Amino acid sequence: MAVIKPVVLRSLRRALGNLGGERAPVIAGHKLLYRCNLECRMCPFWRREDEELLGLADEIRIMDALAHAGVSFLGFEGGEPLLRRDVGEILREAHDRFHTSMVTNGWLLEQRLSEVAPHLDLLFVSLDGIGETHDRLRGIPRSFDRATHGIRLARSEVPTVISHTVTRENLDQAEKVVELAEQLDVGLTVQIAYDYRAADPLSPRPETLRPVIEQLRDLRKSGAPLLESVEYFDAILGSWFEGDPWHCKPWLTINIDPAGRIVLPCYVLQEYQGSLPVWAVNIRELWNEFDWAPYTSCNRCALACYLEPSLFRWTDFAALRDRVIGGAVHYLQRTPRTSSRAASERRVQIDTPAP
Ligand SMILES: C[S@@+](CC[C@H](N)C(=O)[O-])C[C@H]1O[C@@H](n2cnc3c(N)ncnc32)[C@H](O)[C@@H]1O
Ligand code: SF4
Ligand code: SF4
Repeated sequence: MAVIKPVVLRSLRRALGNLGGERAPVIAGHKLLYRCNLECRMCPFWRREDEELLGLADEIRIMDALAHAGVSFLGFEGGEPLLRRDVGEILREAHDRFHTSMVTNGWLLEQRLSEVAPHLDLLFVSLDGIGETHDRLRGIPRSFDRATHGIRLARSEVPTVISHTVTRENLDQAEKVVELAEQLDVGLTVQIAYDYRAADPLSPRPETLRPVIEQLRDLRKSGAPLLESVEYFDAILGSWFEGDPWHCKPWLTINIDPAGRIVLPCYVLQEYQGSLPVWAVNIRELWNEFDWAPYTSCNRCALACYLEPSLFRWTDFAALRDRVIGGAVHYLQRTPRTSSRAASERRVQIDTPAP
């Protein structure tokens, strides 16, 4: 089971400050690069040129600034983070300071797992459907086989979670992906594709999305290994289909681009374009000077790293554990769905060979 590090207490103090009017980030995301070995249709990032990448010393400066601001959870992504030769060293430094996670397309896990696993509390591997559906969305053949092979290797080394992006082209795959997670005995997190300007517009149409969100909520209620809370799915249904918006709190999450710049006000609205270098500002001052008011009613995206913390009852310590690191705890402790037996009986159809 994941253990809450002392840094969580620091975050709780900040979070309680959030209740009292002082704003502070608790969760951080950091793209280590934009370059990628896949070409996902809904993704703008692999299409960008990287500037010169930061070295370990600058990565540590970013971490120190984040820790000083009160951040307790640091998630790495990209681009493809496993393309960074120094990713193991970066993660080791990060794990000394934060709860850590990384999201990867899984292609390079066979080669790089031993460098990263010891320094991660959670590993997310992206899967956007079964077999050909995933490969078509990811633009490169054999991506599904490589990702599932990586998951099989990783799951005994580090708590591992499938990250599934719902697009208009894989709406029929949600239950199959839940079943695959159960077969592989890993967790599952879902997000809904957002239409970035520089990517194919694949976000699902509302009328076709609604039944999938309801299905995922029901699967979650019946014990599927989903990290998202039932409230997360209810918030999407309430806002996008019933006119009952959630109160977005983008200040709880801070994102840092590959050059060390802060993405303000959030990942989505700036299409992940950073502005202020993290070491040139006092994050806590910036957070309390910035005008967040226009964004609280935004509800444009349902990225879990913003929506879940926006739903926290910040006085509830168990909620912090369960929703940030303990999503993993939830799936390790859950009672398997009764239908998971049926899923294992269908294994022949959706299980995959190692590449
Ligand atoms: C940008 S990728 C970076 C990490 C790694 N390359 C991977 O694919 O896991 C991080 C996550 O963003 C998701 N993603 C890509 N395009 C998206 C979009 N348009 N809307 C929402 N999520 C998206 C991916 O499926 C992946 O799970
Ligand atoms: S979603 Fe991840 S794997 Fe796909 S192109 Fe974007 S960065 Fe690469
Ligand atoms: S709902 Fe709006 S303000 Fe909140 S994270 Fe998404 S895009 Fe940003």
